Amino acid sequence: MEGHTVLEMISYQYDISGLTGSDLDPFFEGWPKKPEPIKRMEILKNSDYVIIARDGANIIGFINAITDKTLSAYIPLLEVIPEYRNQGIGTELVKRMLEQLKDYYMIDLCCDEQLEGFYKKFGMSKVTGMIIRNYNRI
Ligand SMILES: CC(C)(COP(=O)(O)OP(=O)(O)OC[C@H]1O[C@@H](n2cnc3c(N)ncnc32)[C@H](O)[C@@H]1OP(=O)(O)O)[C@@H](O)C(=O)NCCC(=O)NCCS
Repeated sequence: MEGHTVLEMISYQYDISGLTGSDLDPFFEGWPKKPEPIKRMEILKNSDYVIIARDGANIIGFINAITDKTLSAYIPLLEVIPEYRNQGIGTELVKRMLEQLKDYYMIDLCCDEQLEGFYKKFGMSKVTGMIIRNYNRI
């Protein structure tokens, strides 16, 4: 559309209304095994917070958070589909999620080392983390 940047055309929704498991097909890139479509929907449905980025009818990114509703919040997933990367959509999703979570004492996430700079922009600090991944439970 003339005079409109891609970013202006992106909308953000704070629930999963209208979403189906197949809308999430393009996501979970690079995972050894992707969660089944039904599980992808469950992940979002059972999250305390979810923000979906849309370009019209297409789902192009999402972020979710789980919390104890008191002190702590964790951001397990953030993804923007490759065609829409490096246009500020990931930044917008994180900003909007941090705004949602601003009253929590601790807001944590794990990321690869190369994304450290991306998350530092939001005032996040690097710590040592410990994880378990049960690859047979996806
Ligand atoms: C990380 C991700 C969500 C960023 O989304 P995006 O819409 O491209 O984000 P933005 O356009 O707002 O910002 C892109 C920034 O991330 C950096 N970035 C993204 N992926 C990167 C990578 N693998 N290595 C280094 N930098 C990376 C870009 O260089 C850019 O840096 P800048 O802010 O200094 O310009 C997207 O690359 C993605 O979905 N990656 C695959 C899934 C993933 O890694 N999710 C994070 C889980 S912790």
